[in-house]
Amino acid sequence: MTRPFLEVDGLVVDYPVPHGTFRAVDNVSFTVARGETLGIVGESGCGKSTVARSIVRLLTPTAGRILVDGTDIARLNERQLRPLRSRIQMVFQDPYGSLDPHLSAQDIVAEPLRLRGVRSRNGRAAEAARLIDLVGLPSSALHRRPAEFSGGQRQRIGIARALASRPELLVCDEATSALDVSVQAQVLELLRQIQAETHLAYMIISHNLGVVRQLSRNIVVMSEGKVVESGATTDVLTSPRAQVTRALRRAALDPTTMRGRKPRAMVRAGTRPPEATAGDARPETAQEAAR
Ligand SMILES: Nc1ncnc2c1ncn2[C@@H]1O[C@H](COP(=O)(O)OP(=O)(O)OP(=O)(O)O)[C@@H](O)[C@H]1O
Ligand SMILES: [Mg+2]
Repeated sequence: MTRPFLEVDGLVVDYPVPHGTFRAVDNVSFTVARGETLGIVGESGCGKSTVARSIVRLLTPTAGRILVDGTDIARLNERQLRPLRSRIQMVFQDPYGSLDPHLSAQDIVAEPLRLRGVRSRNGRAAEAARLIDLVGLPSSALHRRPAEFSGGQRQRIGIARALASRPELLVCDEATSALDVSVQAQVLELLRQIQAETHLAYMIISHNLGVVRQLSRNIVVMSEGKVVESGATTDVLTSPRAQVTRALRRAALDPTTMRGRKPRAMVRAGTRPPEATAGDARPETAQEAAR
C-alpha cells in the first residue's frame, strides 16, 4: 500500500488556562491520501480548528505525530519547517481578515510566488493572473483590492493565493461558512474542479455536515476533542453510530443551518474563544505559516 500524504497519529493539544491546561484535542488520528478529500465535522468548539492549526503548524502540538509524506513535522522548528510549509496550505473562514487590504488581488496571489523563488516580476504577475483566471475571476479583478470584492470572490482570491504555493494538501477551515448557500455551492464546485485537474488533496473542515459530505470521500466526526466516528462518508451518513453524528445529520437536513449559522444547541457551553492566548501550544504568525 502506498503511504498516505498525511498521517496524523495520536494528536494531543493542550491550551494553558488559568488553573492548568485544557485538552482541546485528545488523541486524534486520521490519514489523508494523495488527491483525496477528508472531511472533518463536529460541533462548535470540538477542536477542528486546533487540528487544522496543528497540521499547518500554526501551533506546536503537545503530543502526537504529524507525518507529511513520512516526515514527522510535529516538533520541527521554524527553520526546519520552512521548506515544507508550501506543501500544506490553508484557506481560512474569513477571507477578509486573511488578505492584506492594501494589496491588489494580483499582488496577494504573487506574494507566495516570490517566496517560492519565482524571481522575475513579470513571471510572478503572469502566474498570478493565470491563478486568478483559474479560480473564475475576470482579469478586471487583478488590480482591485480585497474591499472591492464580494465575500465569495474574496474566498476565490484566498484559494488562488493558497494554490500559488503549489501545495499537495489544502486545508479549508470553514472556508465557505461565511457565504450564502448559492455562493457556498459555487466555491465548493470550484474546489471540486481544481481537484479534478490538479490531484490536490483536501481537508474540508466544517460544523456543517452538508458542506463536508459534498466533497469528502471519508469523514472524521469529532466531539469534545476526540474522534467519535470515522469512515467512508456514505457509510457514516447511512448508519451513523455516534449521537453527535446523528445530530449533525439532522442539522444538515435543516435548510436554516446551510447558511453557516451554528445552531445554538451545538455551541458547547463554557467553551473559550479561540483568540485566547496559548502557551503550551505555541501559536506562530499566519505570515510565517505562509512561508
Ligand atoms: N488559544 C486558546 N486557549 C484556550 N482555549 C482555546 C484556545 N483556542 C481554542 N480553545 C478552546 O479549544 C476548544 C477547541 O477550539 P477550536 O477552535 O479548535 O474548535 P472548533 O471545532 O474549530 O470550533 P468552531 O466550529 O467554533 O470553529 C474550544 O473549547 C476552545 O474554546
Ligand atoms: Mg473552528
